[in-house]
Amino acid sequence: MQNTTETDDGPEKFTAVQTLGTTGITHRAVGPTESRSASRLWWDADADDYQAAHGDFLGDVRFRWCPEGLTEDTAGLLGPVAGRDVLEVGCGAASCSRWLATQGARPVALDLSAGMLRHAAEANARSGVSVPLVLADAGELPFPDASFDVACSAFGAVPFVADSAAVMREVHRVLRPGGAWVFATTHPLRWAFPDDPGPEGLTVYHSYFDRTPYAEFDDDGRITYVEHHRTLGDRVRELVAAGFALTDLVEPEWPDGHQEVWGQWSPLRGALVPGTAIYVCRRL
Ligand SMILES: C[S@@+](CC[C@H](N)C(=O)[O-])C[C@H]1O[C@@H](n2cnc3c(N)ncnc32)[C@H](O)[C@@H]1O
Repeated sequence: MQNTTETDDGPEKFTAVQTLGTTGITHRAVGPTESRSASRLWWDADADDYQAAHGDFLGDVRFRWCPEGLTEDTAGLLGPVAGRDVLEVGCGAASCSRWLATQGARPVALDLSAGMLRHAAEANARSGVSVPLVLADAGELPFPDASFDVACSAFGAVPFVADSAAVMREVHRVLRPGGAWVFATTHPLRWAFPDDPGPEGLTVYHSYFDRTPYAEFDDDGRITYVEHHRTLGDRVRELVAAGFALTDLVEPEWPDGHQEVWGQWSPLRGALVPGTAIYVCRRL
């Protein structure tokens, strides 16, 4: 979900770009502290626009995995959730957690951004399905060991942290043995293509193997937005090293008739290349 100050993303992202004074784009090393601070800045500044642009599609009480629209009630990637303790990592407005609550789970929704959690609190009140909200970093989960049966994330946290291996280790720590960890990210292949939903987005322009983070910055060189790329192999190695078994890798196909354009995700590109990777893992 890269942003750009160069192409027209519409009203979405414009406010955050202006508020944060973003003036340029680069690929450069960004460490954990700088990355955390940039993500907090960005998601707080972008929260209102993000929810205005995607809130209807995401719903107040709905578990969507990705811009392709796949929902947990059709995919069933988490396994049975009734009666289970579930952690949602990078929850945004926490619509997934509210859906989980309606299925009999005991969800906890965690996010780094107070702006996003403000929307989560409003949606709790609006929907009448209230889930616990926790302000914290995915790399330092404020829970005792073995607190949860299931952990999940729909594009939350993992693409935005410098040390995603540390997130994998933290999720492993807070899961009980045998617990499920299922998370969606931008498909790693998309890194090689421009962040553009149209024909411009169909030509390889960047090395898939270049892990240097994509970053936006202001006039003082402060990072205002960052995304970290891992190849498919990197991700599998991180998971295995943390103590997970990868049991499935879901690449949702673009559904016939689905017209929703979300950033770089569009019917045009969705028909040709995968946009989302969902890693289905079990804690050993
Ligand atoms: C693309 S949004 C996805 C939110 C939600 N899952 C959805 O589908 O709308 C990414 C979310 O990850 C959160 N996030 C980014 N870095 C994080 C971190 N280090 N720890 C926890 N949450 C983080 C952001 O604040 C944001 O709410």
